[in-house]
Amino acid sequence: MPDRQTFYVTTSIAYTNAPPHLGHALECIQADVLARHAHQQGKRVWFLTGTDEHGAKVVEAARKAGQAPQAFVDVLTDRFRALKPAFNLANDDFIRTTDRDRHWPGAVKLWQQLELAGDLSKASYRGLYCLGHEAFLTEKELDSEGRCPIHKTKPEPVEEENYFFRLSKYAPELRRRIEVDELRIVPETRKHEMLAFIDEGLKDVSFSRPAEVLDWGIPVPGDETQTMYVWCDALTNYISAIGYANETEQFRTFWPAHVHLVGKDIVRFHAIVWPAMLLAAKLELPRQIFVHGFITMDGEKMSKSLGNVVDPFQLAATFGTDPVRYYLLREIPSSEDGDFSKRRFLERYNADLAKGLGNVVSRILTVAAKEPALVGVPPTPATLSALAGVHREYSGCIERFELHQALGVVWRFMGECDETIERERIWDLKTRDSERFQAVMIQLLAGLAKVGQMLWPFMPDTAEVILAFLGGLKRDWAKDGFEPKPPKQLFPRLIAPADALGVKADRRKPESPSDAPH
Ligand code: MSP
Repeated sequence: MPDRQTFYVTTSIAYTNAPPHLGHALECIQADVLARHAHQQGKRVWFLTGTDEHGAKVVEAARKAGQAPQAFVDVLTDRFRALKPAFNLANDDFIRTTDRDRHWPGAVKLWQQLELAGDLSKASYRGLYCLGHEAFLTEKELDSEGRCPIHKTKPEPVEEENYFFRLSKYAPELRRRIEVDELRIVPETRKHEMLAFIDEGLKDVSFSRPAEVLDWGIPVPGDETQTMYVWCDALTNYISAIGYANETEQFRTFWPAHVHLVGKDIVRFHAIVWPAMLLAAKLELPRQIFVHGFITMDGEKMSKSLGNVVDPFQLAATFGTDPVRYYLLREIPSSEDGDFSKRRFLERYNADLAKGLGNVVSRILTVAAKEPALVGVPPTPATLSALAGVHREYSGCIERFELHQALGVVWRFMGECDETIERERIWDLKTRDSERFQAVMIQLLAGLAKVGQMLWPFMPDTAEVILAFLGGLKRDWAKDGFEPKPPKQLFPRLIAPADALGVKADRRKPESPSDAPH
């Protein structure tokens, strides 16, 4: 028997210099959708996330907090781990780059492979180091005042001995693989950016720092006077965590990764540096890199100094995990920048969840739960085939990483169910035509089950509640039909006072007749 198809998905690993913000949550949630969707397709899934704990940026943050780096990162790592329960993430593993047993041996082995390939050499280097980027910048990349255009700080002039990685050697091979989508970069615009970057000429990269300047990291094997460059160390997490050092069964099963999820600021490291390291070590390249955009807050970059950093934990605690997942996955186009605003959040919540989803579930089940004749009746082959068509469209969106479009398909389909409810006037259809009533209701129940199934990767708890209303999660409804239960309200409407974060749920009876389940 051939092994089941595998699916290995990773997020980038966040720096532990500050607690997680909404951008980190977004990346993990997007990866979670992909993992859950692959799981539903019967694949063997591995979903990895973790933390990037070494480097000068973390040392600086620890110093400012008056703490030793290790104690500092231990506390912050726990905050990143807490994203899992807060956002119902199904990650299978969490890797820390400070883990000497699990991460270091893989990082050391990869370094040795680069050395063996003749791709590491020591040279003295003079450059401008940007702490925010954890990378050297060229003069050309700075703004007119000599500052990093992203971090708005002047990079530090550095003159030191470093090991260099011969990135330039791999330019032609990288170019070819990216061009033909052997290493697929999504969206296309990012692929073209990377090809253009290669065409400008790749320079070799500094892959270590002197230990006397920076000792918070992995010592270079065989030369303790040097510390591995934080990016060289961190990128290795994708293979160290699955057992590269000992070539474990798990490593053989899951490598190469199906997809690495990254933000737009770190594409070069993932599309160029990392694949070049893998080529040097004669390892397979990841199949795809999916690049998401950035979240802004009310149109502004989230930053501590602007005081507009949204705390993902507070948001989930106030509004619930699924509404926040929904907003991030629906409102923000998967590969573009998007905005978080409390006003938009409330609009989406009330229109799409309280009203849209809540109404469809409630209208169908309020009628169905009273009808014992509907129990155990499976949908017709024609209904099942129509639903399969909707599912194919939805899956296609996910496979293209257009997660917001996949949700668009689900909501469009719910709109169609709602039209059927109105057209057929299901609340009094039985008295007019009991045979038609039976047929329409089974079709609607099957539609609702499909909605539950398609929502599961996006809003797992909500989906499970919907499927429980229909007779249980494990029920094979296509064969055994339904056992409809009276529904409970899924999302109470939110009313927004001046400070929307203090909103209260409106548990009164719906005011307008259109809100009322018939
Ligand atoms: N430690 C590196 C990644 C190493 S991967 C081998 C790093 N860390 S980070 O904490 O700065 O960023 C982690 C991820 O969050 C990146 O993919 C980054 O693009 C993403 N985001 C950072 N700010 C963001 C937003 N405002 N919005 C969405 N994602 C954002 O880079």
